[in-house]
Amino acid sequence: MKLQNILGISAGFHDAAAAVIDQEGNILFASHSERYSKQKSDPDIAWSMLNEIDMSKIDTIAYYERPLIKQLRQLYAGQGIEWNKLTMHQVLEQQLGYNRINSRKLKNYNHHRCHAAAGFQTSTFDRATVVVIDAVGEFETITIWAAEYNKKGLACYKRLWTQYYPHSIGLFYSAITGRVGLRPLDEEYILMGMAAYGHRDNVNQMRRDLVANEWEIQFKDNLHTGVDTTYLDRMTDMNIAACAQEIAEDLILNVMVRAKKFNWSTNLVYMGGVALNCAANARIGNYFDDIWIMPCPGDAGSSLGAAALAYGKRINWTNAYLGHNIPGAYPVHSLLDNLLDRGIVGVASGRAEFGPRALGNRSLLADPRGNTIKDQVNEIKRRQQFRPFAPVILEEHADNYFDMPRGFSNSRYMQVVARCRHPDLFPAIVHADSTSRVQTVPRDGSGIRELLEKWYVLTGCPMLLNTSLNIRGEPMVNDRADADRFEQLYGVTVCS
Ligand SMILES: [Fe+2]
Repeated sequence: MKLQNILGISAGFHDAAAAVIDQEGNILFASHSERYSKQKSDPDIAWSMLNEIDMSKIDTIAYYERPLIKQLRQLYAGQGIEWNKLTMHQVLEQQLGYNRINSRKLKNYNHHRCHAAAGFQTSTFDRATVVVIDAVGEFETITIWAAEYNKKGLACYKRLWTQYYPHSIGLFYSAITGRVGLRPLDEEYILMGMAAYGHRDNVNQMRRDLVANEWEIQFKDNLHTGVDTTYLDRMTDMNIAACAQEIAEDLILNVMVRAKKFNWSTNLVYMGGVALNCAANARIGNYFDDIWIMPCPGDAGSSLGAAALAYGKRINWTNAYLGHNIPGAYPVHSLLDNLLDRGIVGVASGRAEFGPRALGNRSLLADPRGNTIKDQVNEIKRRQQFRPFAPVILEEHADNYFDMPRGFSNSRYMQVVARCRHPDLFPAIVHADSTSRVQTVPRDGSGIRELLEKWYVLTGCPMLLNTSLNIRGEPMVNDRADADRFEQLYGVTVCS
C-alpha cells in the first residue's frame, strides 16, 4: 500500500495532540492526548490515541517546533533543565516509539510558523495577514506574517515582525494568573472570567510597574517566573484580573495596529494561545474586515499546523468534529425529551471536538431560560459561581439576542464575546458585564443544528445553554465509557 498521509505531532510541553492529513488535504483525525489518557493537559502522546490512526499509511511525521533551539532558550531562561541535546528524531522516538517513526520521513518546523500554518491553511483566504501571539515558542513570543498561495497552490509565509522572549503578552497574563492563585498556562480563562467583576482604577499603576514599552510590547522584567505573591496585595483578585485584562487587550490591539500597517491584507488569521481570550477578540474586528481563528489556536492546534506545512497546500477545513467517533445518528429526539422533562441533558455523539470548546458533540445542554438552571448545572460542574455558561444559538437568530462584535458576523467556535440584548431573561448564560461567549450554528446539517431547530419550534427559544461534558477534574468526555461514568456519577442522562 502506498504511504501517503502526514501525521502532525505537538507534544512535550502541555496538551499534546496529533493530527492526520491525507494527500487530498482532508483532515482525517485531530485530537488531544488528554482525552485518551484522562490526564488533563497531558504533555505526552497517549499511545491509545495513536490506535485511532492507521500508521501503515503514514508517510511523513511532522513535529511542531525545533527541540534544540527551544532547549537553548530554556537554558538561557534558567529553567533548571539539563542540556540533553534531544533532537527531533529522539523526541519523536520518545513520544511515538521507535517502530512508529522508523522508515518514515521526519520533519520539523518553527513553533510560530506552525501556529501560522494551522490558521492560514485552514482558512478560506487566498491571502492574509497572520498574527501569532502566545507565551513563547522557541524564542518568539509574537510574530506577524504575510501569507499567500503561489501559482502552484503552495502556502508561502514571509515574516514581517517578531517580538522575542522574555517580552510576552502570554507570559504577562500567565504571571497574573499565578498571582491570583490560579494555575499559569492552564487557568488563564478563569482570570479572564474574573476580570468582568473587577474595576480598573489601578490599571495605570500595573502598567507603570510592568510594561516598559506598549508599542514595542516590552516588559520591565522577565515575567516567566511570575510576579511576587505580594504584588498589589491591597487590591482584590478581581481588580487585579480586570487590570491585567485591560493591559493585555491594549497590547494585543497594538499588535493588530502594527499588523494592519503592513498593508498586506484586510483578512486576519489570528493564532496562538492568546487568541483564546474571547473578551479581547471582541475588539480586534476594528482593524480587519474578515477574521479567522482556527478553533484550536494553541499549541495542540500546531499538530495540524506542522502537518499543514509538510503538506504545503490549503487544507480542507469543514468543522471541528475531528476526534474519536461515537457512531450512530445524533440523538435529537431523546435529547429533546430530556430537555423538556428535566431541563438538562448530556450528549456524546459523533466525532469529538478538536480544541478546548464543546460544540455540541460532547456537551452538557440545558434550557437557558430562568433563574434556577445555572445552579443546577453548577451542581454538576462545581465551577466558580461567578462564571457563566455559554449559549449555543441558531445563527439566523443571533442578532436578535446578541450584539455581535465587528468582524464577527458569526461565532461558530465560541471564540468571541457579544453583548446580550436580554440579560434578564437568560441569567445563566450572561456574564457580569452583560456579555456571552456565543456559539452560532449555521444550516450545516449538524446534529446540534437539528436539535436547536426542533427546540425552537417547541419552545420559541432558539438557544440552549452549552457547557463541556466532563467529569470534575477530568478532560472532556471522549468515548462511550466516559459518558457512562458521567451518567453514573451525576444521574444526568447522556444520549448517544
Ligand atoms: Fe505556542
